[in-house]
Amino acid sequence: MIKVLDKHFIIDTKSLTYIMHVNSVGYLIHDYFGDHIEVKDVTALGLKEGFAKGTSVVVDEDIDPNFSANNQLLEYSFTQKGDYREPAIILRNNSRGYTFDFRYHEYKIVKPQDIEILPMPHDLDDELIIVLKEANLDIYVELHYYISNKHDVLVKNVVFRNEDKEEITLEKIASLQFDLINKDYELVNLNGNWISETHATSQKIHPGIYINDSKTGNSSNKHNPFFMIKTSDTKNDYGEAYSFNLMYSGNHQEVVELNIFGNLHIQTGINPFLFSYNVKQGEKFITPFALMTYSSKGTNVLGQRMHDFINDCVVNKNFGHCLRPVVINNWEGTYFNFNEVKLLNIARTASKFGVELFVLDDGWFSNRNDDFHGLGDYDVNKKKLPSGLKGLAKKINKLGMKFGLWFEPESINIESKLYKAHPEYAIAQDGVKPSRERHQLLLNLAKKEVQDYIIENVNNTLKSANIEYVKWDMNRDISDIPNKGKEAGEFYHNYMLGLYRVIREITKQNPTVLFENCASGGNRLDLGMMHYFPQTWASDCSDSYERISIQGGLYLGYPQSCISCHVSHKSNHQTLRKTPYSSKFNTAAFGVLGYELMLNELTKVEKEEIKNQIAFYKKHRELLQYGDFYTIKEKKYEGDGATWMIQSKDHKEAIFGVFNGIQSTRPHEFVLKGFNFLEGKQYSFEVLNQPHDLKLFGNLVNMILPIHVNADGWLIQTVSKFKTMEMETTKWTVDGALLNSGLILKSEWAGNGYSENSRVLADFGSRLYYVKVEE
Ligand code: GLA
Repeated sequence: MIKVLDKHFIIDTKSLTYIMHVNSVGYLIHDYFGDHIEVKDVTALGLKEGFAKGTSVVVDEDIDPNFSANNQLLEYSFTQKGDYREPAIILRNNSRGYTFDFRYHEYKIVKPQDIEILPMPHDLDDELIIVLKEANLDIYVELHYYISNKHDVLVKNVVFRNEDKEEITLEKIASLQFDLINKDYELVNLNGNWISETHATSQKIHPGIYINDSKTGNSSNKHNPFFMIKTSDTKNDYGEAYSFNLMYSGNHQEVVELNIFGNLHIQTGINPFLFSYNVKQGEKFITPFALMTYSSKGTNVLGQRMHDFINDCVVNKNFGHCLRPVVINNWEGTYFNFNEVKLLNIARTASKFGVELFVLDDGWFSNRNDDFHGLGDYDVNKKKLPSGLKGLAKKINKLGMKFGLWFEPESINIESKLYKAHPEYAIAQDGVKPSRERHQLLLNLAKKEVQDYIIENVNNTLKSANIEYVKWDMNRDISDIPNKGKEAGEFYHNYMLGLYRVIREITKQNPTVLFENCASGGNRLDLGMMHYFPQTWASDCSDSYERISIQGGLYLGYPQSCISCHVSHKSNHQTLRKTPYSSKFNTAAFGVLGYELMLNELTKVEKEEIKNQIAFYKKHRELLQYGDFYTIKEKKYEGDGATWMIQSKDHKEAIFGVFNGIQSTRPHEFVLKGFNFLEGKQYSFEVLNQPHDLKLFGNLVNMILPIHVNADGWLIQTVSKFKTMEMETTKWTVDGALLNSGLILKSEWAGNGYSENSRVLADFGSRLYYVKVEE
């Protein structure tokens, strides 16, 4: 609900309140964002700076000689009026240069309308628009605030409107500013690179400016737009924290600035790097939407608030709460080297295991037998697929699975028919040899004819066969931007507007197709893409131990229903680390499950294991994809373990994941502590049975065998294909209060003690525990 009281704007979400007011000078001052409050006396709210501190420029001495903008909590910061912190907006025109004077003009409360050109949250209930106007020109900055009554997320964006004769150039325009008083806050960002995306890093905020950004043209695998601030004593289940995200897939910038008086100044929006946008009379510039939320009960509640909002209001409506299918993808099994026979062999095994969707990855078109050729052309390679996509899809459907297809529509190889016909479609600057990444260039999506080419070709392929899923890949960063002169600064944003048009049209015309976003893994994992494509392939790294860091970081701000996680071969291709299939599944189960290996080449016991995994996942899929995610213990350093939990919203059911790092020789007794179980209710507590590989114990098997065997010899190798070793049993009935206080698990293997009473984990071993209330 949004109400106005004594020039104060009070926005109530489900359980939070946001307050700001217009002061005598016409500046919009931020007063409060936190747990719900009732306001009787507005004078008690906000910062009380009754004089202009030190060397301060006073905005308008005639109205208020004590008001300097430099140390205020402001809703939006401008330049040239004494606010020397990072400005939220920088404008320029010929007659005024950089000097403008924006003050409060009017407000409106309206019903939100979808703006179409940019990804916007849906199912929003109310919108408050506060309009600031330049004192003598017809130019306006509108601050928009949106809420959904069912959630605790505030959405903001900004519209710049030019009704003046003169063209204005925007050199920066942030989507969100949030000022508050520092409480010994720490900043948490998601940093990474290819195959090591979204590791959460935390640092104390010091006086000065910290910038988290992307300049690659994508939201990037280096610095994700999600970030969080929390007090230094905030924990998963205790203390104050705020989180922020931007619904944008291009260059972004997040600013965290702390001044010497303890005033914290936060912004997020399009990166001003190589950005300048010309707005003519009658035109407006709409910024991407930004999200923020708050929790006084720790970071798990904070994450859950974002997750719920994303599932309900960000993700493509057609898939918001859909159960996501279990996938088999051929990439790491075959790479480019496949034909129909090979694919069907994998598919047949997968269908027997209960897999629901077969995804044909890169290499199905033109002469794409390596990554030098074919991107841009979408004619099926009949040598590999003699019955075409239609025939293959039919055969896959006959096996009881859906058929999905990989595309990389934004890219082009020089070795392609498209490049020969239309070299001008590729991004390049006249007179400059364009640089390549993965041997490819990008198509210029800022051009309408290129957008139309992609829309038409992807649609034609989708019509050509029963394709029910698309993995939309994009495997490079932008370089060599083509625009010249004063349009040069518009390119990055126009690329994004072009991309959004393309994927809006394609998803509209194919409303039942499930799209998965991919950019060499998580190189463009953001809420903008999630709005159209409900799932994202989070990383090309499928090593289960690395995945704890990647997924652990992501779940601070993104729901597990949107994150694709694949079980790949036990010798991981990215890290060359061997981890058991149990651990690969146990991490992947905390997301959207898939497999990416030659399932038909597994041993008998491995096949049995994977069949059981899929059955377990499907049985608990709703809980795993849409339950509340809790970090119980995060992985803090390489070698460390982690514990996660997903609990149903009614607290009657949960799954714990306990992940070991490097095996300790003095393992601590493990206390498994959950949250929010119903006190006084009895729960069954059971471990998922995942027997050990016989080879785990190496030569130690000789301790229990009557004859000596060579652990690396053929006998053990052969027997291990058919036989496993039992793991410990755990099946207890426990009070919810005990789960909340902490249940002591069976002691861990400590150089000895293999029996049904010890937990043998070894390096990177793990367990899943299923908990359900006994009715
Ligand atoms: C990217 C993707 C992979 C795979 C390959 C195919 O790297 O992230 O999953 O699809 O492209 O070329």
